[in-house]
Amino acid sequence: MSSPAVLTQNTIETIEWTPNGVVMIDQTRLPQEVAFVTCRNYVEVADAIRNMIIRGAPAIGVAAAMGVALGALQSDDLQRDMPIICDTLAKTRPTAVNLFWAIDRMKQVYARIQDSDPGEIRSRLVKEAQLVREEDLAINKQIGQYGAPLVPDGKTVLTHCNAGALATAGFGTALGVVRAAVREGKKIDVFADETRPFLQGARLTAWELQRDGIQTTLITDNMAGHFLKSGRIGCVVVGADRIAANGDVANKVGTYGLAVLAKENNVPFYVAAPISTLDLTLPSGDAIPIEERAGVEVTHIGGIQIAPEGIAVANPAFDVTPNRYVSAIITERGVARAPYEESLRELCKRG
Ligand code: MRU
Repeated sequence: MSSPAVLTQNTIETIEWTPNGVVMIDQTRLPQEVAFVTCRNYVEVADAIRNMIIRGAPAIGVAAAMGVALGALQSDDLQRDMPIICDTLAKTRPTAVNLFWAIDRMKQVYARIQDSDPGEIRSRLVKEAQLVREEDLAINKQIGQYGAPLVPDGKTVLTHCNAGALATAGFGTALGVVRAAVREGKKIDVFADETRPFLQGARLTAWELQRDGIQTTLITDNMAGHFLKSGRIGCVVVGADRIAANGDVANKVGTYGLAVLAKENNVPFYVAAPISTLDLTLPSGDAIPIEERAGVEVTHIGGIQIAPEGIAVANPAFDVTPNRYVSAIITERGVARAPYEESLRELCKRG
């Protein structure tokens, strides 16, 4: 389906508000096909989040905000429907806190203006959702500015999953740091973990970095230790789905193992994430809900069965990296280092 979403060399418009609905790149079809999905109501937005048409914590947040706006636009009784719309969107994926952050932001706007004219409320909610998207793009560029100086020149950056333009409104968090370092003239290349089982590294990170002309080498997840030991990796940079008050980081499953291997080999391990990914209500990562996804993601690759019928499968989509493995957390308000209880709280106050 053709769409108004723009694909230029350096900008990938992951999600857009259009008069026809919310248009997203279908991330389940990449890299074979650049296809777009138009969500025409909030239930379709919720399905798109649940089914990973759109994924990545900040992009999920933008989609949720747009879902709320779309729901409000189509409602003839906002007071009755707003809680239903928000609950439906909140039940899609449990780990990325940006989802709940975005829904809360929309709820707060609604609470402030709920006595206004319904037309006015609807247009205000649409504007807010568009603002969430615009701000995310600016935030990622700022994260890039703070992160680029940390990237060693002449070395390789190792990343996991996709924390790039596709996982955000554009530019990316972890890959935003890479992009900013490249723009500063650093001679770096990227090693991308394939990221079993959903293959975000192979399908998405490899695709978007290749489009940008950034030298990228795809490796399987179990090769990371080998390359971390070799001395060629200058740093690891990953994104996050939720960061607890003590700096424990939930991110794509496999991140924890990577962080342990990085520490063992004295390679800095950086997490790049917006302030909206912080959840200071949780004292540690133990309280972060971890999404369990369908076993078919593990037993099948590209629709082909690779495991015996009936085998038991575990498929936690995320793991939690304890703060002691995290060298720094790069946000749009600056770089936090241990002790994270203090540094993260300090960054939040700066807002
Ligand atoms: O299951 P996904 O693809 O939504 O998981 C994405 C990740 O784990 C990302 O690293 C994280 O959301 C940060 S995206 C900037």
